[in-house]
Amino acid sequence: MSLFSSIDHAHMQRALVLAERGRFTTKPNPVVGCVLAHGERVVGEGFHQRAGEAHAEVHALEAAGADAKSATAYVTLEPCGKTGRTPPCADALICAGVSRVVVACEDAHQHDGGAVERMREAGIVVEHGLMRAAAREANIGFFSRVERGRPFVRVKLATSIDGRTALANGDSKWISCEASRHDVARWRARSGAILTGSGTVRADNPQMTVRMDDDACFEPPLRVVLDTGLAIPADSIIVNGEAPTLLVHDEDARVPSHFRQQERLGLPAVKGRVDLAALMNELAKRGINEVQVEAGATLAGALFDAELADELLLYQAPTLLGDAARPLLAGIDIHDMRERVDLDLLEVRQIGSDLRLRLRPRPPIFDDGDTFGEWLDGPDTEVDAYYAALGRKPGAVGYDDQDRYVRVRKDGSHEILSDPDLLNRERDDDPDSDRRG
Ligand SMILES: NC(=O)c1ccc[n+]([C@@H]2O[C@H](COP(=O)([O-])OP(=O)(O)OC[C@H]3O[C@@H](n4cnc5c(N)ncnc54)[C@H](OP(=O)(O)O)[C@@H]3O)[C@@H](O)[C@H]2O)c1
Repeated sequence: MSLFSSIDHAHMQRALVLAERGRFTTKPNPVVGCVLAHGERVVGEGFHQRAGEAHAEVHALEAAGADAKSATAYVTLEPCGKTGRTPPCADALICAGVSRVVVACEDAHQHDGGAVERMREAGIVVEHGLMRAAAREANIGFFSRVERGRPFVRVKLATSIDGRTALANGDSKWISCEASRHDVARWRARSGAILTGSGTVRADNPQMTVRMDDDACFEPPLRVVLDTGLAIPADSIIVNGEAPTLLVHDEDARVPSHFRQQERLGLPAVKGRVDLAALMNELAKRGINEVQVEAGATLAGALFDAELADELLLYQAPTLLGDAARPLLAGIDIHDMRERVDLDLLEVRQIGSDLRLRLRPRPPIFDDGDTFGEWLDGPDTEVDAYYAALGRKPGAVGYDDQDRYVRVRKDGSHEILSDPDLLNRERDDDPDSDRRG
């Protein structure tokens, strides 16, 4: 039997839909939705709209007023327990007298504030894990940044049906149809940064800004250009100041006078090119959750080669560009079928005359629910200073190797926060729960 009823599922589904309303504006914060209900009757709804402003729970409590008393709160992410730029939501829920809080997914940052403990001490029933996978997915970039110390990297490419991304002479305008290009704008808008290479800047002289045909509000993403020797033309549109732009180069490169006022980031070069792992750490430090890569085969291939590409967003047009045209990903040498790179097909959708495919490397580089483990050995950054020690640091919370949600005690042993039997039973019964057992 599932721990959660169909009414619980319906309300959490609604909370997830509400969370999406903040998709373009909450960066670097996660998107969060909240529903307050008495049984089937919804008494308040809210979502987090903008970093620094009220959280989803506060909006829902305001909407519910006195009806919040004894209600159940459905929240897509663990309520905050610490005072940040806004007061703790856990305390607001306690003050309003809610009787039960259902949380879709945990957030180790928030948990550190003692929100769940305080709510339980106040007599609130707190339950976790309803539609957890969907809630993690909604904030995949946020979790990537805080748990791995690097953004979630989505590589967008427009390709012909024969897998080509530009003609041999560099012309690629336009492989995809207009509807696909509008669709790309929405993926740009949700990203904290758009990353491109000097090859694309030279060939296409792109703007890389968000141009949407509706009135959707968004925070303009940072345009990031990899230009090892700071050699792109001075009059490139991308450095015109229309949107925030960061030129990333070899730290030893000479800075030409026309780029002295430009925001720049010098990084060590690896094999004569900007160190991509160091770049990702830097972007995480700047609060970037998701990076959209819009580059040619060279940079796209380098990201896959470095295992830094988490998703491929492919617009495949019904056209042929022929043998001489440029490939999808350059520099990936495979001579044995056992070395091939397998991808999981997440989604296929027709956009105008194109097919849009979303694919992720198999096994996923960013694996939901694997908070402990391989990331602990990842690069050391300010952002993951806390998380780097996850699994060892007293007070840290996460999943242990048996997939139990635990807190690390002072002596290094693990206090089990979730009842594994309950979690397992729920996982078996809940069609929405796809966490690995
Ligand atoms: N179909 C599509 O979706 C699509 C999208 C964008 C572009 N394009 C087409 O792709 C072509 C350009 O592609 P491209 O492969 O020549 O260039 P690119 O991938 O856009 O940029 C590659 C350049 O970035 C610089 N870079 C710096 N650090 C790097 C690193 N660690 N790894 C890889 N690159 C690094 C290098 O030049 P330096 O070291 O000299 O700085 C490198 O040559 C154009 O024809 C364009 O029209 C197609």
